[in-house]
Amino acid sequence: MGSSPSAAATFAAAARIVEGVARRGQSVDAATRDIPHAASSAVRAVALGTLRWYLRLLPALRRLLRDPASVTPRLESLLTVAAHQVVYARTAAEVSVNAAVDATRLIGVPRAAPLANAVLRRFVRERAELFAELDQSLPVRTAHPDWLVQRLLDAWPRQAPAMLEANNEHPPMVLRVDRTRTARHAMREELRARGIESREIQWADTALELARPMSVNELPGFAEGRVSVQDAGAQLAPVLLDARPGERVLDACAAPGGKTGALLEHTPGIHLTALDLASERVVRIAENLRRLGREARLVTADLRRPQDFWDGQPYARILLDVPCSSTGVIRRHPDIKLLRRPGDAAAFARQQGELLHSALTLLAPGGRLLYATCSVCPEENEEVVGAALAAESKLRVAGFPPHAPRPPGAQPRPVGLQLLPGADAGTDGFYYACLEKTTA
Ligand SMILES: C[S@@+](CC[C@H](N)C(=O)[O-])C[C@H]1O[C@@H](n2cnc3c(N)ncnc32)[C@H](O)[C@@H]1O
Repeated sequence: MGSSPSAAATFAAAARIVEGVARRGQSVDAATRDIPHAASSAVRAVALGTLRWYLRLLPALRRLLRDPASVTPRLESLLTVAAHQVVYARTAAEVSVNAAVDATRLIGVPRAAPLANAVLRRFVRERAELFAELDQSLPVRTAHPDWLVQRLLDAWPRQAPAMLEANNEHPPMVLRVDRTRTARHAMREELRARGIESREIQWADTALELARPMSVNELPGFAEGRVSVQDAGAQLAPVLLDARPGERVLDACAAPGGKTGALLEHTPGIHLTALDLASERVVRIAENLRRLGREARLVTADLRRPQDFWDGQPYARILLDVPCSSTGVIRRHPDIKLLRRPGDAAAFARQQGELLHSALTLLAPGGRLLYATCSVCPEENEEVVGAALAAESKLRVAGFPPHAPRPPGAQPRPVGLQLLPGADAGTDGFYYACLEKTTA
């Protein structure tokens, strides 16, 4: 975290991040690099909030501009940042307008100060009428791109309205407790003694949901790895994989290692290989495991090229947590709404099919593979798994372990299980399917 910037400096840094995401297609993390003050939690919160509501705020602001095309991307981003504060923050509107006017100088467009002032003052006065009209459109009201709203309605006609709403909520901070070191109820007491309230999630026996998000640096037990931050839906992975001590297990798309740590805590004694394509992300796995005090064999390689890393010994269990559209985690990464394009799910599906095919060649007969995504698009989930089942004669669907919990509102699919944002379980969106290689 940096030092606390002024309101104008916060707006200026947030506007640069918003511009990077909305106009240059960068992720928030990429857009944040090299921007003064961008690491400050205040800047991040303002930028994420603006991105969350960008597709509602921008049409309203554009109605107030005589020539929207003449406004530079950075100024437009600054206007959305200020408009977000006006609509969604407790700060007095006047203060936000003044901060935005001051910020024009900081983003290099001082001559736009009068325009920013006029447009934002009108926005403050006229926003109720503007939104009364614009909000008639579901994509604008929920600040999602039209095509994504249509996809969600097609795939999930009943659930889509709740999903769209949930995507705009502030996500809960959920901890995973390493129960080999601290019982969950003891961890809850330890938190309470520090004034940190939490609740146990009934169906996820390692999960504690904090009443309020906080910095991990202030969490007791975090530095020594007794707790980690992980959505409750992700905490299902080790239960569904159902590995046994002594087994050879492959975490095939492992970085940054969230589920790697969960697997080792759930089943100490497995021989775990954690593999990822991206070397800088393998470093993150190493850091995570160091904090947890756990060990795995770390490999930087392309899963699609087993000849580069495989010793020929099959794995009894494989977790395949593939790259995906991330449409299940929009509430945590609102930039996804602006970064995804209509063809992305199909492109991910092709990659996912290749990764699944390769992973299956490494699986022992009788072995179990858990396919996982944080996508809510059937194209990347049951359709990828269905195509593999049709193509590979020695593959069959394996049931989930009998002791595996069923999160409230989880949707059984033709193959596998879908957790949806907005369902009663309150998790991110995840898809899981268990597959087994036959011994015949
Ligand atoms: C969804 S993320 C994995 C998240 C991780 N399992 C966790 O829980 O922290 C997908 C990962 O797949 C990796 N990946 C993409 N293509 C790959 C390939 N061909 N071989 C191995 N890893 C790959 C990406 O680098 C990325 O880290």
